[in-house]
Amino acid sequence: KNAAAFQSALINWYDENARDLPWRVQPSLYKTVVSEFMLQQTQVKTVLPYFAKWLKSYPDFANLAQASEEQVLKSWEGLGYYSRARNLLKLAKEISAIPADEIPQDAKSWLKFPGIGPYAAAAVCSIAFSDQSAVVDGNVVRILSRMTADESSYTNSTEAAKVYRPLVQELLNRERPGDHNQAMMELGATVCHKNSPNCLLCPVREHCLGFEKGIAESLPKLAKI
Ligand code: ADE
Repeated sequence: KNAAAFQSALINWYDENARDLPWRVQPSLYKTVVSEFMLQQTQVKTVLPYFAKWLKSYPDFANLAQASEEQVLKSWEGLGYYSRARNLLKLAKEISAIPADEIPQDAKSWLKFPGIGPYAAAAVCSIAFSDQSAVVDGNVVRILSRMTADESSYTNSTEAAKVYRPLVQELLNRERPGDHNQAMMELGATVCHKNSPNCLLCPVREHCLGFEKGIAESLPKLAKI
């Protein structure tokens, strides 16, 4: 099946079923960055109260840039992986020092900023700037390994992500890259679960060879270390 049909089935499903998450309401660069930092190692339901409090304490980059590291770490308390908070503060200082119209808008340029790896660069730039950069995370690898019925073994999802990057980029919806990326995350989080994927509710099961062969649940094959 072709990429265009897959993209439209996915985006139509997302338009109908996307959760009402606070960073999706009147989205801004700042909300996108804060949410992606928080969501990198933490589940949505844990992030929600922290995100709300954070926006009250630090409404924008300029405001956050004025905070002390001590304050910021205190606000992050309970979320874990505290380097995210330190990097977010550093990033706020760098971003607020750049004139608004000179803030880079592409994933490659964002890789230079503190705390921004390939995942965050693609997520932030696609969502905030409609940059055509595809997100490749564990959800995406799981979905695509199932769609292609890929039974090869990978050491871990980072190795698999490298293999999948070209396919993921090819499947990206070029008109709505941010929504497409979020739709993939949403599908992974709410339907294409690690254990017992809910194929009967899946908007793209017609495109899924793993479903057709009845092997979706067993994929991807990742070595447990
Ligand atoms: N996980 C990471 N980024 C996300 C987003 N923008 N929406 C939902 N879950 C996510």
